Amino acid sequence: MDDQIIENIGTLLLPDAGPLKGEAMKELPVRHQAAIAIKGEKVVWIGSSEEACARQARHRFNAEGKVVSPGLVDPHTHLVFGGSREEELALKQAGTTYLDILKSGGGILSTVRATRQADESSLYGKARRFASGMAAYGVTSLEAKSGYGLDEETELKQLAVIDRLNDEGLLDIAATFLGPHAIPPEYKGREDAFLDQMIDLLPVIKQKTSAVFTDIFCETGVFTTEQGARFMEASLRHGFQLKIHADEIDPLGSTELAVQYGAVSADHLVAASAEGIKQLAASETIAVLLPGTTFYLGKDTYADAGKMIQEGAAVALATDFNPGSCVTHNLQMIMSLAALKMKMTPEEIWNAVTVNAAHAIGMEKVAGRITVGGQADLVFWDIPNYKYLPYHYGVNHARAVWKRGRLI
Ligand code: NIG
Ligand code: FE
Repeated sequence: MDDQIIENIGTLLLPDAGPLKGEAMKELPVRHQAAIAIKGEKVVWIGSSEEACARQARHRFNAEGKVVSPGLVDPHTHLVFGGSREEELALKQAGTTYLDILKSGGGILSTVRATRQADESSLYGKARRFASGMAAYGVTSLEAKSGYGLDEETELKQLAVIDRLNDEGLLDIAATFLGPHAIPPEYKGREDAFLDQMIDLLPVIKQKTSAVFTDIFCETGVFTTEQGARFMEASLRHGFQLKIHADEIDPLGSTELAVQYGAVSADHLVAASAEGIKQLAASETIAVLLPGTTFYLGKDTYADAGKMIQEGAAVALATDFNPGSCVTHNLQMIMSLAALKMKMTPEEIWNAVTVNAAHAIGMEKVAGRITVGGQADLVFWDIPNYKYLPYHYGVNHARAVWKRGRLI
C-alpha cells in the first residue's frame, strides 16, 4: 500500500537525466493526466491518473489539474549575512559602480562588518526566514556560501548556520566556503598573504563543517586568475570540489580557469570570452547564470545564454541572493529574467532550475527530477501550463511545496 497518491496532475514535468547540455536543454518531457505514488520520502510509482485508481493508498490528493514540477534548485546563494545595504541604492542611482563601492570599503566589506558583529543565533534566525521564503517560492534544495567573514571565526560561524539549517531538514543545502570573497581591510595591499590565510583555513573548514565546495571571487580589484588557480589547486588538495565567481564584470579568463581545474560550476560568466564559452561547452563544468544580478546592477549586457547553449554548454540558473548585488530570493523572478533578458525558452529555463541546477551543486542523485526511487520533492503550480510561469512575472505561482513527501 502506498502512503500517498497524488492524482489528477494536469501536467507533470519530467526533466531528463542530466547534465543537459546544449540542444538537450530544449527538451522538457511532460506527462498529462498523471499521478504519483509516494512511500515515506520517496516516489515509488509514476503513471496515469486512470491507473492510479487501482492503487491503494493511505492518503489521496487531487492535484486539480495543476502543473507539478520537481522542487526547484537554487545553486548559488549568499544566504547567511548580517545587516543590509539599502543605503547603497542611492549611491548606485548617483552612478557609483559596484566595484567602486567595494573599493571605498562598502559593498561586500560592509556586510563583512555586520556579519562579524552578528551572533550565530541572529544570523541563523535571519537565514532561516530567507530559506522559508525560498521554499515558499518552490525551492527545495539550494547552495549557500560563507564569504562575509574573511576570518576564521566568522567564516566558521556562517558555515555553522548553514549546517544547522541543513540538519534541520526543511531544505537540502550544499555548503560552500567562499573565504576569498574580498580583501578585508586588515590585509589591504597584502592580497597574497590573505589568500595564504584562507588556504591555511581549508583543513579547518574540512574538519569542522560540511562544506563540500570552495569558491573564489576572481575580479578586477579582488582576486586575479593566478590567485584563483592557487586557491583552486589547494582546495582540490584538501578534498573540496570547486566553484568560482567567474568573469562577472571584467573578462579575466576565469571561465577558462574553471574548466582547467574541473570546477563543478562556473558562475556569472557575463564577460566570458568566446574561447571560454567554447571550453565550457566541451567540459563537464555547469554554467550557472545569474541574470538577477545583472538586472540589479543595472547593466544592459547579460550572460550569453543563447551562445552557451548553442555551443553545447549545460546552463543552470540561480538567484545569487545576497544583500548587495541581487536582493531577491525569488527564483521564479529569475526564471522570468532569463526569458526576458537572456531569451531562454521555457523548456531551457525549467531544465536550468531543476536537473542542471542539481548537477551544479552535486545533488543530481537527490534533487532536480521526479523519478521512481527519488526523493518526493514537488511543487504544485497555479499556472495553466509551464510556459506561463516566466511570462507572468514578479508574483509567486507556487501553490504547495512538498519536501521528502511532506507539505512544507
Ligand atoms: O555573486 N560578486 C561577488 N559576490 C556576490 C555579491 C556579494 C555582495 O555584494 O554582497 C555576487 O554578486
Ligand atoms: Fe555570488
